[in-house]
Parts: sequence; structure tokens; C-alpha cells
Amino acid sequence: SACAALPRPLGLVPTMGALHAGHLSLLAVAGEECASVAASIFVNPTQFGPGEDFERYPRDEARDLRLLEEAGAALAFAPDASEMYSPGASTAVHVGGPLTSRFEGASRPGHFDGVATVVAKLLGIVRPDHLFLGQKDAQQLAVVRRMVADLDIDVEVVSVPTMREPDGLAMSSRNAYLDAAERRGAARLYRALQRGVAVARVPKSTVHVLQATEADLARPEDDPAPRLEYVALVDADTFEPAAEPRRGHLLAAAARLGAVRLIDNIIV
Ligand code: PAF
Repeated sequence: SACAALPRPLGLVPTMGALHAGHLSLLAVAGEECASVAASIFVNPTQFGPGEDFERYPRDEARDLRLLEEAGAALAFAPDASEMYSPGASTAVHVGGPLTSRFEGASRPGHFDGVATVVAKLLGIVRPDHLFLGQKDAQQLAVVRRMVADLDIDVEVVSVPTMREPDGLAMSSRNAYLDAAERRGAARLYRALQRGVAVARVPKSTVHVLQATEADLARPEDDPAPRLEYVALVDADTFEPAAEPRRGHLLAAAARLGAVRLIDNIIV
């Protein structure tokens, strides 16, 4: 009912808290496009797998609320888990097919079911006109777009470009887990993707693009190299691997460094 009283169009910025400049850029874009902006803070347990970092995920609600207020959010929704998932809740949203079984879906089984379910619930609760999501989680963005289309949800999904640290590392709440050497090494993932995209622009075949990315990460350097889990050139909507690089494709990668799993992508 608080949302219903807000001037329209209403934008929703869903977050798991631990806000950084990337979230603030989502709020800024939402503020430009909408008469009011609501944000959610909810570390959603159903999108974390066993052994993932649900327990230690950074949480600082007082700071997050202050930042949301400073960023002009009209309303913050910060439920606890029992409020979001009441006893007896038995429904989940599953986006099927290759879009959710590859890449992040393969590395994190069940992750996208948790994301799709919580985003569907947030859309049902807040009923925004626009939903703002970061380009960094490109597969999540594609999954949410698919769900919104398939379930005829009346919301426009808006993607916001990835915010980066000065050395190119994509901003993420999980970067806080990196020690100083890992933090320097983490920026190598973006540099390797840039190398791959530079090859894609020549143009060359997908194999050359992937080889250039992998070779860049394999180069001996002082800073530790992220261990590549996957790198792929894909269609941005379906995440189908692309035979040839084309404008609009994504060069997407995941890599591990210390205790952190980094993901990043560049639009060709
Ligand atoms: O990207 C995130 O922070 C989360 O996956 C989201 C969209 C808030 C759903 O929990």
C-alpha cells in the first residue's frame, strides 16, 4: 500500500544490500526515468547453493538505508526471510531451457530458480512500472527478461551499465572478500575480456576471441591470475554460444580468485 501511494512511474531497484557505487548508479538511472524509486534489501537465501556465502554475505542495513535515502529512494523494503517465505510457501518460478542450465546455471544449480522466484515476488509486492538490473549479472538479466515475457508481467526491465573500479574491476559486494594481492589480480579478468573483445572487432572467429581472452589470463604477471571457470561469446538474450562474433553479443566469463568467484562481461 505504501508503493501504491507513490507517484508513477515507479521504479524498483532490487538489491541484496552491501550497497556500492554500482547500486547507486542503478538508483540514479531509476531516478532519471521514474517519478519515484523503491529499493529492496533482501539477502535471498533461495538463490545461494550449499557451501556458498549466504551466512557471511556482507550485511549493513543501517548504512544501506542511509545510502538509499541520500540517493533519493522514496521507499526501502527490507523484509526478513520469514516475511518473504511464509511457512507453507510451495511455489517457485523455474525458467527452463539452456538459458538457465548453462554457465552460471551450470556452476550454481538452483540459483536462477531462487532469483526468478524472489524477483517475481518483489514485482508482485511493489508493482513497479520499471525494474532496474545491472548489466554485470548479464545472465540474471536475460533470465528475468524471459520470466517477465513468459508470465506477462507488466514491467519494463531496464539494464544499467556495469560500474567499474579505476582499474576496471566490476563493482561487486563480494569484492570485499579479496585480499590486497587478489584485489589487484581480480582486475585481470576485465583486461582479458577487453583483449578478447578487441579481437572480436577485427573481426575473427569466436575461437580466436576465446583464445585471446584465455591467453591474456595465462600470461605470467606479478598479480595472481583469476582461474577461469568459463569464457564464452553468447547471444545476450538466449545465452546460446555464438559461432561468429557480432555486434551485441556478450563476451562473458567467470573465474575464481581466492575465496571469490568473479563474473564479468563486455558487450561486443
Ligand atoms: O542481483 C542481485 O542483487 C540479486 O540477484 C537480486 C536481483 C536482488 C535478487 O535477489
